[in-house]
Amino acid sequence: MSRADQQTADAFASSWNNLPPGSVYTTAQVADWFAPLGPDDIRGARVLEMGCGNASLMVHVLRWSPAQLDGIDLGAAVDSAQKNLATSGFSNWTVRQEDLTTFSSAGYDVVYSIGVLHHLTMPKAGFDAVVRNTRPGGRFHCWVYAREGNALVIGVVDPLRRIASRLPWWLTKYGLATPLVFPYFLYAKALRALPRWRALRALPLYDYSQWIAQREFAFFRHVAFDQLVTPRTVYLDRGTLEKWLCENGRVAPGSTYVTMRNGNSWKFGGQTRGEPA
Ligand SMILES: C[S@@+](CC[C@H](N)C(=O)[O-])C[C@H]1O[C@@H](n2cnc3c(N)ncnc32)[C@H](O)[C@@H]1O
Repeated sequence: MSRADQQTADAFASSWNNLPPGSVYTTAQVADWFAPLGPDDIRGARVLEMGCGNASLMVHVLRWSPAQLDGIDLGAAVDSAQKNLATSGFSNWTVRQEDLTTFSSAGYDVVYSIGVLHHLTMPKAGFDAVVRNTRPGGRFHCWVYAREGNALVIGVVDPLRRIASRLPWWLTKYGLATPLVFPYFLYAKALRALPRWRALRALPLYDYSQWIAQREFAFFRHVAFDQLVTPRTVYLDRGTLEKWLCENGRVAPGSTYVTMRNGNSWKFGGQTRGEPA
């Protein structure tokens, strides 16, 4: 495992382990992140989350009745994940501290990795690990930041991140993320309140703002803190993801998708070769 990945996981642990208990996501957000996968794909399945953070997704996925749900994360976020899952009312879960890039299992029916691969030193190795841990004929699903539609974030947040990720977490959260995200919070709320005029659609982060503006200020701050606290983030273009899917010999041709989400991120996935369940 690379030292940089461990630093990233430690930074995320300071984010996840200093939040109030429970999921940071709404049910609608989780459904949107998972589509085209949904409750029917999860029901009765053995499911793995790679890079589970504080289990904010897992507590929702458990309500879709998997046979078993396992989560792994490289960081001490597993502490808050375990606490959140312990109060979920379900017992068919495990969480372990593991590096996803080297993780190996007998293979799961469904493997997902949401918001993780773009933080790795070797994102493709992370993707290959997702596919490697999907059983023959199983399904995998990932979500990453896009290079497309993120010019503002790349231009403004990326340089700041280099400084912010070296500060104590509380200074980054309350001294930087909070004041910096406030103007964006007002911008996004204003865009959401206005009619959906065609001219407005050309504004930066228009679609993303419509999505995030459904949430309260604390969620904006959480996202801004997540952006600033991590030492490494890469922005992936469609061509790169299509190449990963095409070059991995275990992926079933014709089963794959790469879908833009909110104008600035990609959902992508598919099925591995073999007999579907
Ligand atoms: C943005 S968080 C996403 C958490 C969760 N998937 C979600 O959407 O709420 C990224 C997570 O990936 C984890 N991570 C980073 N590198 C990792 C690695 N090499 N192996 C396992 N987890 C890793 C971090 O510790 C962090 O909790």
